[in-house]
Amino acid sequence: MKLFVDTGDVEEVRRAAEWGILDGVTTNPTLIAKSGKGFKETVLKICELVPDGEISAEVVATDYDAMLKEALEISSWHKSIVVKVPLIEPGVRLVRTLTEKGIKTNVTLVFSVSQALLAAKAGATFISNFVGRVDDIGNDGMDAVADSVAMVANYGFHSQILVASVRHPLHVVQAVNAGAHIATVPFKILQMLFKHPLTDAGLKRFLDDWNAAGLKIL
Ligand code: G3P
Repeated sequence: MKLFVDTGDVEEVRRAAEWGILDGVTTNPTLIAKSGKGFKETVLKICELVPDGEISAEVVATDYDAMLKEALEISSWHKSIVVKVPLIEPGVRLVRTLTEKGIKTNVTLVFSVSQALLAAKAGATFISNFVGRVDDIGNDGMDAVADSVAMVANYGFHSQILVASVRHPLHVVQAVNAGAHIATVPFKILQMLFKHPLTDAGLKRFLDDWNAAGLKIL
């Protein structure tokens, strides 16, 4: 499964990229606004930090013509950019247009397999199934992920199912178990994926035993 970091914070991207396991970055208007920096400046800095990554940057217009103008502008900034488009009627039409132009797309704000079907039929590269926001209203957001993974497999769509709105490490585990292609994870939760108490305890014992024996490598 590919791992993306879900942030507009360049420092978080730098630290996640250093681990050597990052496949990409997703931003959204809220995360970019939170960064307090300019949109293009932030996206280009992120592309520089993850040169072979897939970097999602979102249009904010909601009528087709303006969305197309924004999408062509954003996609012209860097080869790594994936244009993020909300699952609304003009958005699905835009994805078809961008697909025909060979521009990668990430369809966002997807909460159901029926929405995912529309995105897949329009040729979306990634389909962002939000899980945390579904959990927030008392339903299981992973249900639509499992259905969407099965749907693209059953019909041979090329779209990759991306698990978004991740709230905790268990969402990443569930994404793996659902066969999702990608998970985009906030930086703090990515850090938690490294953690296991037995790893910490095991390393401490190894080092205590080694040091007690007065051993050295260098
Ligand atoms: O970037 C898309 C998505 O992951 C944001 O979800 O619910 O954490 O705002 P949320």
